[in-house]
Amino acid sequence: MSAIDSNSQNQRVTIDVQLERTRWSDHLAEETKAGLSDEPPWIPPVWFYDEIGSDLFDQITRLPEYYPTSAERQILGDHACEIARITGAEHLIELGSGTSEKTSLLLDALGENGLRRFIPFDCSEEILRSASGSIAAERPEIEVHAVVGDFHEHLDALPMEGMTLLAFLGSTIGNFEPDQRKRFLAEVGTVLGSHDWLLLGTDLVKSQDRLTAAYDDAQGVTARFNLNSLDVMNAELGADFERDGFDHMAVWNQSESRVEMHLVALRDHRVTLGALDGLTLELAGGEHIRTEISTKFTREQVTTELNGAGLEVVRSFTDDNEDFLVSLARPAQNRITQR
Ligand SMILES: C[S@@+](CC[C@H](N)C(=O)[O-])C[C@H]1O[C@@H](n2cnc3c(N)ncnc32)[C@H](O)[C@@H]1O
Repeated sequence: MSAIDSNSQNQRVTIDVQLERTRWSDHLAEETKAGLSDEPPWIPPVWFYDEIGSDLFDQITRLPEYYPTSAERQILGDHACEIARITGAEHLIELGSGTSEKTSLLLDALGENGLRRFIPFDCSEEILRSASGSIAAERPEIEVHAVVGDFHEHLDALPMEGMTLLAFLGSTIGNFEPDQRKRFLAEVGTVLGSHDWLLLGTDLVKSQDRLTAAYDDAQGVTARFNLNSLDVMNAELGADFERDGFDHMAVWNQSESRVEMHLVALRDHRVTLGALDGLTLELAGGEHIRTEISTKFTREQVTTELNGAGLEVVRSFTDDNEDFLVSLARPAQNRITQR
């Protein structure tokens, strides 16, 4: 399914909808039902993002404790020209593109090196439409072809024509469980052609205090962001969570090398979720629902996982504090000659 839109500047934006709204809603309902029936219960992080949640996330990225966005922006600011020179990319695909705010640094540099097309890819049609319209208006020389899709399902629908740079920024890969990450990277490895590149942003392991502070800021913005997921489920899933009966918590899980966000029940709850076939969730005071995982990596781990997917790291970049890593990888050359 696909549609051609025009923005106010008459720049053509193609919106390619791979993800039908009802199928996506059914998929999320199923995943949430499975998560809430698990022990301990968890929910997919998608419930953070209604309009209020997206605005709160935007505020989080500017908090003093939340270093990942500024660190990755610094890396792209310092190295976008080098990335453009090495890759010579004519097409830029961005997975989980959101607002594509930091991506403008890449678009500037690649634009001076012959970039012809930008393909933002996200599960949120609203955010894609808004970001694509702004980018097309600012950069009339670049064709914008947005794809509404699920990056766990629709990578084979990516338009891979000509030399392509596939960017996956924001350490969104840290939100995946290990087996999901392995499957995802393997799929990326098969989608990339011999002249294509992957640009992967990953957050690095650091002191536990800084890690947990980044997910539990002094102003309480992350707490509001986490609690907002209950309001979103109430609205979208016909649930009756009592928001004031939960507290935000961020913990470092050493054995999984990840920060986890939880909602802790402050009293006993009996929650009904009408849209999940009337599923009932019983929580005793002190029990948790896990709402997000955010894995932190070492450089070696990133290299090993990319190698496992048949990719070789050609350059990697960090910010001044070595908080964040951006890796530029391509299909391993020995793999190509064996093909
Ligand atoms: C943490 S935000 C990162 C946004 C941006 N890349 C950045 O670096 O700031 C994750 C983005 O991935 C999108 N997303 C989450 N799950 C997705 C899925 N299964 N398929 C496609 N996009 C997804 C969300 O809508 C959101 O825009």
